[in-house]
Amino acid sequence: MTPRTRLLTLFLCFVFAATFFSGSTPAEGDAKADEALAEAVKEGKKLYFKSWRKGGKSCRACHTRGPNKLTGERLKEYPKYDKIFRKVVSAQQKLNQMIKGKSGGEELELGSEELNALEAYISTLK
Ligand code: HEC
Repeated sequence: MTPRTRLLTLFLCFVFAATFFSGSTPAEGDAKADEALAEAVKEGKKLYFKSWRKGGKSCRACHTRGPNKLTGERLKEYPKYDKIFRKVVSAQQKLNQMIKGKSGGEELELGSEELNALEAYISTLK
């Protein structure tokens, strides 16, 4: 074996071991990622349609048409300056402000599974 073939063999062994021990092939990894995202979107949809307090309005109630129609594109503009906060805020901060201010719910923890799910769902809106 030349040093070069030895190096190549070592590299192939490494790739094989990495694939073997990671427990999934790259294709399986993609499927898992897709599944996780689909699950988050599904959970987020529930939050988007739900009433956050008795008699309270859902996000959907105000955001389906007109100038307030909400789309994934609009969410992509964040972080941006917000007149109500009077500073630059993240999409999640804006969602939380809506949850509390317009829907009458309790703010969610930034980065929480629920808030991420709501954000994931809104990102799919066309
Ligand atoms: C009573 C009506 C009402 C409800 C309910 C409501 N919103 Fe809003 N929302 C508005 C109005 C009006 C604005 C524009 C003024 C502003 O930015 O605060 C807005 C703005 C937004 C924006 C910013 C859009 C942009 O282009 O920057 C997002 C995101 C948003 N709402 C998400 C939500 C979510 C998520 C919910 C549910 C938790 C929700 N809203 C509930 C009325 C509502």
